[in-house]
Formats: sequence, C-alpha cells, structure tokens
Amino acid sequence: MNVIVAVDRNWAIGRDGDQLVYIPEDLKRFKALTTGHPVILGRKTLATFPGGRPLKGRRNLILSRNSGFSPEGAEVFSNLDALLAAASEDAFVIGGASVYAALLDRCGTAYVTKILHAFPDVDCWFPNLDARPEWHLTEEGPEMEDKGIKFRYTTYKRV
Ligand SMILES: NC(=O)c1ccc[n+]([C@@H]2O[C@H](COP(=O)([O-])OP(=O)(O)OC[C@H]3O[C@@H](n4cnc5c(N)ncnc54)[C@H](OP(=O)(O)O)[C@@H]3O)[C@@H](O)[C@H]2O)c1
Repeated sequence: MNVIVAVDRNWAIGRDGDQLVYIPEDLKRFKALTTGHPVILGRKTLATFPGGRPLKGRRNLILSRNSGFSPEGAEVFSNLDALLAAASEDAFVIGGASVYAALLDRCGTAYVTKILHAFPDVDCWFPNLDARPEWHLTEEGPEMEDKGIKFRYTTYKRV
C-alpha cells in the first residue's frame, strides 16, 4: 500500500480537526495520484472534505467504530482487519493521524509533501520518517511555491 501526506517542517499535519493549509497544486497532485485507487481514511478526515462527502473516482474505505455511520458512496469498517481484507495493494492511506499511525508499517511507498514552514498550535503529526531507519528518502523534488507557500514533493520507500 501507499501513504500520502502533507507535513510541515516538524512533521505536523493538522490543527483543530483540519489541514494546516490547502495548497492547490498539491491537491491536484493528490487527485492525480489517488484517482482510480482505493483511499483509506478515518472518519474525522472524511469530515474535513467538502460537505463531508467521499472523494469521487475512488473507493472510499472509512474507519469508524460508530455502527450508525454510513455515508453514501463510502464503505465503512469498524476495525483494521476488516478494512485490510477489503483493501487492495494499490490503496492509498490518506489520513488522519490515527490511521497513518496504524497503517504506516503496511505501506511500501510514502508520498510526502513537505511544506517549508513550521506552523504554530498544531495538534497532530505524521511519524518522522527521517528518524525511521526502514524508510529511505528516494526522491526529492525542487522547491516550489503556490500562493506564497513554499513546499516540495518527496518520496520515501520502506526497505
Ligand atoms: N496533512 C495531511 O496530509 C492530512 C491528511 C489527512 C488528515 N489530516 C489531518 O489529520 C487530523 C485528523 O486526524 P485524527 O487522527 O484526529 O482523525 P482520523 O484518523 O481522520 O479519524 C479518527 C477516527 O477514525 C476512526 N478510527 C480510527 N482508527 C480506527 C480503528 N482502528 N478502528 C475503527 N475506527 C477507527 C474513529 O472514528 P469514530 O470516532 O467514528 O469511531 C476515529 O475517531 C485533521 O486535523 C486532519 O486535517 C492531515
């Protein structure tokens, strides 16, 4: 499986239940990479999408322990084993923090957008892959800028 995430300089990924920043260029890349593949996400990340609706053009595999939660156009799983039995190898884990932590060790490739800022008041993080010997940085793109936000695309592989 793959994992895709946008982190700041301290590997922070969110605050107050939302993203740190939305970078239009990065959202386009996210769509291009994930369309046609299953996406795996937690119930709280689904809530951050427009209208709280699943992503189009992708199977949305949602984790939630709430048996009454059944958004249209998504498949809901109450535990990881059931979700993993339904997910194919080409799936993308798309967050949030709890789902990244639970599934990182199942992933072979991590697409990490590095936002070249340190945001204040953050409250959730992605594991620091540079501190994990099993993860190797294999690609590092040039510094880019969109609406004043500097960032770069990187890829890590688990060996
Ligand atoms: N920067 C990025 O690339 C990025 C990407 C995605 C998300 N985010 C950010 O991440 C934050 C959300 O992360 P989060 O950790 O708070 O929430 P989350 O992982 O999106 O969702 C957590 C919820 O998922 C369900 N869940 C998680 N593990 C489960 C399991 N093993 N079995 C059954 N259900 C499970 C539970 O839902 P129930 O409560 O319904 O039981 C849990 O409350 C937000 O700030 C969001 O903006 C950032």
